[in-house]
Amino acid sequence: MTDPARPGRVVVTGATGKLGRAVVAHLRGVGVDVLAVDRVGGRDPRDVDGEFLLVDLTDYGQVVEAFTGGADEHAGGIDAVVHLAAVPAPGLMSNATTFANNSAATYNVFAAARAAGIRRVVWASSETVLGLPFDTPPPYAPVDEAYAPRPESTYSLNKALEEEMARHFCRWDPELVMVGLRFSNVMDVEDYAPFPSFDADPTLRRWNLWGYIDARDGAQAVERALAYDQPGADVFIIANADTVMTRSSASLMAEVYPDVEIRKDLGEHETLLSIDKARRVLGYEPRHSWRNHVRQA
Ligand SMILES: NC(=O)c1ccc[n+]([C@@H]2O[C@H](COP(=O)([O-])OP(=O)(O)OC[C@H]3O[C@@H](n4cnc5c(N)ncnc54)[C@H](O)[C@@H]3O)[C@@H](O)[C@H]2O)c1
Repeated sequence: MTDPARPGRVVVTGATGKLGRAVVAHLRGVGVDVLAVDRVGGRDPRDVDGEFLLVDLTDYGQVVEAFTGGADEHAGGIDAVVHLAAVPAPGLMSNATTFANNSAATYNVFAAARAAGIRRVVWASSETVLGLPFDTPPPYAPVDEAYAPRPESTYSLNKALEEEMARHFCRWDPELVMVGLRFSNVMDVEDYAPFPSFDADPTLRRWNLWGYIDARDGAQAVERALAYDQPGADVFIIANADTVMTRSSASLMAEVYPDVEIRKDLGEHETLLSIDKARRVLGYEPRHSWRNHVRQA
């Protein structure tokens, strides 16, 4: 750990999930002492290799125990929370179930962190608040954090409410640092094989403007966000530097969204989910691309 501001002991929720596994491995790899929590998983190192506690985040008492060292054999002294646990997309469970789980889990995490005196919370918001699936065209491209959330599903509505909730927690307690990371579609290396086939139909991945986030770069963004020390609530789009397509970003926009204003000179494959703010403020810089893993035509 080169940054003295980076916390020493961190709870990661959703630790056995797709993004959580990458985040836990990355943080442990840079020397962060991680208490991994999830409602599924166990002692099998294929779940999480290291300290792990089963917690259902919809139960406030369990969250408080996890954050204060109340659970046997798990020390307190937590400096920060990385909250990734959620039903991770629309349409996986009923809308009401998704809302009940995700809103209760996030409220409990935010409230228990505050009660435990934990100043830093980094949590997973979502690209969906930008207006996915863009049946209504984006206001301009690349999309960024400058316009108000446009949730189009119950899952996304909850993410937008979480961003609003964070703003109020920070108003109540101006010392808090709460960073919402609006992740794009999370990918592991094994997910890259079909990417070249996306080119056949430009509308196939239109729903998120052809974006993605490599789980390893998502983990890097979490590390960067944990080192961020500006009190208050803020949000950042976290995507890779390129799209999922072989075609140019400009040609995709011209064909699929001809009336949408393009606000910058786009690089050949430049992401249409702007990561300029994350680059500028967090020092985030994606290191991975599907193009390094899959042979292209
Ligand atoms: N996967 C994506 O493409 C994507 C895109 C944008 C944002 N996100 C967000 O990133 C985060 C991680 O997503 P993921 O892809 O790793 O999902 P995932 O389903 O692989 O992991 C989520 C984890 O959260 C846990 N969880 C859910 N409810 C819980 C509860 N009440 N108590 C304890 N644990 C609970 C699950 O058991 C699971 O292990 C989520 O917040 C998701 O909304 C995901």
